Amino acid sequence: MQDPIQKTITFVKQTLKNAEAGHDWFHIERVFKTAININQEEKGNNLVVALAALLHDIADPKFNNGDETLGPNLAQSFLQSIAVEEETVNHVKMIIQHMSFKNSFDENSFTSKEMQIVQDADRLDAIGAIGIARAFTYGGFKNRVLYDPAIKPEEHLSKESYKNTTAPTINHFYEKLLLLKDMMNTAAGKKIAEKRHQFMLDYLDQFYSEWEGN
Ligand code: ADP
Ligand code: NI
Repeated sequence: MQDPIQKTITFVKQTLKNAEAGHDWFHIERVFKTAININQEEKGNNLVVALAALLHDIADPKFNNGDETLGPNLAQSFLQSIAVEEETVNHVKMIIQHMSFKNSFDENSFTSKEMQIVQDADRLDAIGAIGIARAFTYGGFKNRVLYDPAIKPEEHLSKESYKNTTAPTINHFYEKLLLLKDMMNTAAGKKIAEKRHQFMLDYLDQFYSEWEGN
């Protein structure tokens, strides 16, 4: 008999077959590996960490008319169908429900060590070399300019600008990517984030320098 993690991998791969590049199976696989990696140090429940990482983007509300219940419910019914014990199912469901960037501003939201680990792993995939690639992929999809020297990136630090739909992709670094380092929950996550953060700062220096023809 296959173990629940293997079964979940098969299920998620199949479900995300046609997902867009930002949230495809490879995003899940990176988050899964990073979460397991962080958990080596943090010593949370490995099964909960693995299943939550694998199922965290199973039905993105953005592509489901804003429905935030679909993903958690789908995760729950799948895990029940492969006979994972109820306590684990409930924990995984809570993690998925409370993991998004938006929900993380809600101070009353649920938390657990496993939740913090998976959230760190998901955030880490938005920064560093991969994070840069994902941002420009998103910007290209939305037909945005890379950068506009008339708009000072620093002016895009506020949360309201997060909703600005025409901002150059470089602004996304200031409105989100450069803020993630200080939002890390775990020590292991923080350590990885520092390195990826510095890589983005170096990248931005180089970007502005090349913009001026250097
Ligand atoms: P999450 O994976 O946390 O749900 P999103 O769905 O908002 O994040 O974004 C998916 C990827 O697209 C992330 O790497 C994110 O940084 C990137 N992204 C989101 N919004 C923008 C934007 N306005 N400009 C550039 N990249 C973006
Ligand atoms: Ni994700």
